[in-house]
Amino acid sequence: MRGNLRAALITTERFTLEPLGVHHAAEMAKALAGTAIYKYIGGQAPTAEELEKRYAAQSVGSSPDGRQTWLNWIIREQGRSIGFVQATVEADGPTSDVAWVVGEEFQGRGAATEAARAMAAWLRHHQPSVRITASIHPENTASASVARHLGLTPTGHFDEDGEEQWDDSLLTA
Ligand SMILES: CC(C)(COP(=O)(O)OP(=O)(O)OC[C@H]1O[C@@H](n2cnc3c(N)ncnc32)[C@H](O)[C@@H]1OP(=O)(O)O)[C@@H](O)C(=O)NCCC(=O)NCCS
Repeated sequence: MRGNLRAALITTERFTLEPLGVHHAAEMAKALAGTAIYKYIGGQAPTAEELEKRYAAQSVGSSPDGRQTWLNWIIREQGRSIGFVQATVEADGPTSDVAWVVGEEFQGRGAATEAARAMAAWLRHHQPSVRITASIHPENTASASVARHLGLTPTGHFDEDGEEQWDDSLLTA
């Protein structure tokens, strides 16, 4: 991996992807409220305090052993935080595991697709040899659609949580 990869501001047609910071916690607690978001990914809506702690840890940008780079962006639309996209880049891969979450009230408008596409383009630009992967619950059709828009395809391999591994090996073959 190229050293010191850090999330940077990304702009798309409708959104700004801001590198995640602790100051996003209060607004994101509102965006991530509800129960539907957690149907396939597990967990529950975090409080603002929980997010503050999580974001403080994530915005360090790498794991303590330096083997992973953590890239997190808040999706902002007209001054509101509506979701996030993230990439975990393995130092010895280079593999980048990506994920996306959009608040319930902002779903179904192409936000995840637009934000994830911009993140994938950013990753491929900054790390041309990157292999992009994702773990997706087999019934999570919305997430599968987002993945397909990035050129990812299901591999038929499942992890211990029952999520299928997707990657861009067909795109880059
Ligand atoms: C997955 C998720 C991020 C999609 O966000 P979104 O902004 O609504 O996605 P988009 O509007 O870009 O839509 C993406 C595709 O999913 C489809 N879709 C959206 N909501 C859907 C739903 N409830 N059921 C089935 N398909 C759905 C859209 O039609 C679109 O497909 P198309 O482009 O092939 O027509 C959002 O549903 C979410 O946050 N879910 C909970 C968290 C999660 O599961 N994250 C994925 C972890 S891998």
